[in-house]
Amino acid sequence: MISRRNWFLSSAALAAAAPSQAQTASGRFVSISSSNGLRAVTLAVTLMKQRNYDTLDAAISGVNIQEEDPEDNSVGYGGLPNEEGIVELDASVMHGPTRRAGSVASIRGIKTPSKIAKLVMERTDHIMLVGEGALRFAKAHGFKEEELLTEKSRKAWLIWKESLRDGRGHGNWGPGLDAPGEAGREAPEAWLRERYPNESPEFLAWAWEVATHPITGTINCLTLNGKGEMSGVTTTSGLSWKLPGRVGDSPIIGAGLFVDQDHGAAGSTGRGEENIRVAGAHTVVENMRHGMSAKEAVTDCLKRVARNYNNDRKKLEQFDLNFYALRKDGDFAGGSLWNGSYSRGQFRPRRFAVNVDGTARLEDCIYLLERKA
Ligand code: GLY
Repeated sequence: MISRRNWFLSSAALAAAAPSQAQTASGRFVSISSSNGLRAVTLAVTLMKQRNYDTLDAAISGVNIQEEDPEDNSVGYGGLPNEEGIVELDASVMHGPTRRAGSVASIRGIKTPSKIAKLVMERTDHIMLVGEGALRFAKAHGFKEEELLTEKSRKAWLIWKESLRDGRGHGNWGPGLDAPGEAGREAPEAWLRERYPNESPEFLAWAWEVATHPITGTINCLTLNGKGEMSGVTTTSGLSWKLPGRVGDSPIIGAGLFVDQDHGAAGSTGRGEENIRVAGAHTVVENMRHGMSAKEAVTDCLKRVARNYNNDRKKLEQFDLNFYALRKDGDFAGGSLWNGSYSRGQFRPRRFAVNVDGTARLEDCIYLLERKA
């Protein structure tokens, strides 16, 4: 039997855990995305507003632009490959109105994994398909298996392999006794120019940057229509040079993406391993469910990430993580662990893309920590 004191405690605990009232629709059409998603949010809002597209179809159409763009090396076609030179993609979708979800992980040979994630949601009694099974499922639905490695990504991968050194500073790909070139990891320009005489200095600088600082890129896109319906999608080629089979946060419902039709949606880009540890997207949405603004919800989640390393800046400096939050009432935020990053001496602030009722812009993210030059 429950004692009076315990009854009181459990009521208090329940009250603390109770969600706020379901948010009401703002009547606005809103889409937010990672910084590579300016075109995605623009298309998503246009499709929802002018062509009455469903929120998930609009979000997927938006990210398809990046998935099919060979110049975005963090997503889909042209994404940087795993350590064996094979592109492996992860994606997830969530549809607010039906409260359903689908995802694929480590899928090869398909340019638009977000579309396969939606098919998993619509055509199966499962939520997640991986690897070979996901590819067979895509082919069964008429998708063509294609080479996803572009010349640019292939050469960047080769340069990464050539940059590898053992404990004595030696690499199998040279320079060495039987391989030309003098320069090593500290001064790669001359050595790279000698090996790739036809490549531009800009390409070689970029390739060295990604060889020595693997990327996690990714695009997340969240949508809200005038009726208050919401959806989301996250799609990525994951961590460059990863172990074959490594899966990040993007296809994991609750980490890379979460939508609660009554309250809001959230997604993430950056180092997936850190996000999975805090079930980031779910945590952000749950915070909003308890009444936090989008900014407060993201900030609290970033604090949990930092707490996992006892707020040790030296450790936290080694990665980036970003969250995007959109409430049903139209409040939104993008937030990052760091204010930005330095790439080839240039500071790049963290931004996110937003479109409200047809007007698109990049906005600065709120952040937890400030990187010194
Ligand atoms: N957030 C993308 C990944 O870690 O794979």
